[in-house]
Amino acid sequence: MILVTGGAGFIGSNFVLEWLAVSDEAVVNLDKLTYAGNLQNLASVANDARHVFVRGDIADFDLALDLLNKYKIRAVINFAAESHVDRSIHGPEDFIQTNVLGTFRLLEAVRAYWSQLADAEKSGFRFLHVSTDEVYGSLRKDDPQFTETHQYQPNSPYSASKAASDHLVRAYHHTYGLPVLTTNCSNNYGPYHFPEKLIPLCIQNALTGKPLPIYGDGQQIRDWLFVTDHCAAIRTVLAHGRVGEVYNVGGWNEKANIDVVNTLCAILDELQPRGDGKSYAEQITYVADRPGHDRRYAIDASKLERELGWKPDETFETGIRKTVQWYLGHQDWVANVVSGDYQSWVEKNYAGRNV
Ligand code: NAD
Ligand code: DAU
Repeated sequence: MILVTGGAGFIGSNFVLEWLAVSDEAVVNLDKLTYAGNLQNLASVANDARHVFVRGDIADFDLALDLLNKYKIRAVINFAAESHVDRSIHGPEDFIQTNVLGTFRLLEAVRAYWSQLADAEKSGFRFLHVSTDEVYGSLRKDDPQFTETHQYQPNSPYSASKAASDHLVRAYHHTYGLPVLTTNCSNNYGPYHFPEKLIPLCIQNALTGKPLPIYGDGQQIRDWLFVTDHCAAIRTVLAHGRVGEVYNVGGWNEKANIDVVNTLCAILDELQPRGDGKSYAEQITYVADRPGHDRRYAIDASKLERELGWKPDETFETGIRKTVQWYLGHQDWVANVVSGDYQSWVEKNYAGRNV
């Protein structure tokens, strides 16, 4: 069996659903169910005996060790994290707790388990750490894309905490010989994306007649990858990656934020036109910038392509259309997600932005 952490979040739940669709191997899914974790994402596998869901914290050493032993885990894929940059600016502590201390405790549990395995199981074991391109910092307009050897220059509490976790994972390989793999991926989008992030937030605000908030001048660039392409890359690295190596994952889809939002508006205008016949683009509103806002991320994914043969299936145009269609077809999912604490987060993040 494999152990997935954070498998009720956006990327983790897509990964679990796909894994169970393409593999016979069962999954233990350890997730704390923070505001970002949602069991509705996993409703289709709720009665599947190959999916064992455990509510718990990756920082709980005893629980993690117990699960590793009980289910004779042969690989861990660590998605669990606090993942939203704006939340890390308002309150960094949870990011240190989960992303740094949590990863450390999980590594300790894995090391204790892995050390006592027989030689064959020991060499076949893998700890795959899912990380982000944000650890590399910000690029200028004409800089080459991030490669795996780019200097770490994290700029937000979120990216600093992910950078710390990457360093711990690396150290556990170099010091203890733990067979680790690390992936650093660009911005994901697709089904089950929590509507605090740019794409799902703007789809939902558009449909409910609210402003589409663009930070600063909207010319910040992100490199977008459809979530199922990320999941496929993780499966590829898990199966064929060289132990101790880092693989960058990206979609070769650099877009300015304002262009992403205009594209969303154009697709919505076509699929679900506004009642007054005007474009959703009329709702675009420039607001105060994110403090320390990284200007540009761009991933050079050629190592993963060259060494392991992975390539994304979706272009931005196909992926974004599928995403908008998914949200239009899953308004019940959104309605559940945006109740409760979500409203107080929106108030906290956007109230002081001088719309
Ligand atoms: P998410 O916020 O949607 O989900 C995170 C999940 O982790 C949630 O289910 C949450 O309940 C769980 N979790 C949080 N703290 C936990 C803890 N202490 N113990 C157990 N579970 C806990 O995040 P996501 O967007 O799906 O990102 C998943 C991973 O991928 C993260 O490590 C993130 O840094 C990385 N990543 C994300 C992106 C992106 O664009 N979203 C890109 C590159 C890398
Ligand atoms: O690059 C990978 C990272 O991508 C992941 O590691 C993070 O977990 C993930 O959240 C994402 O980080 P970003 O900060 O790039 O994503 P977000 O959707 O929050 O913002 C995308 C861009 O849009 C960014 O430049 C900020 C901007 N933005 C965001 C929001 C929420 C706006 O202009 N307005 C908004 O309301």
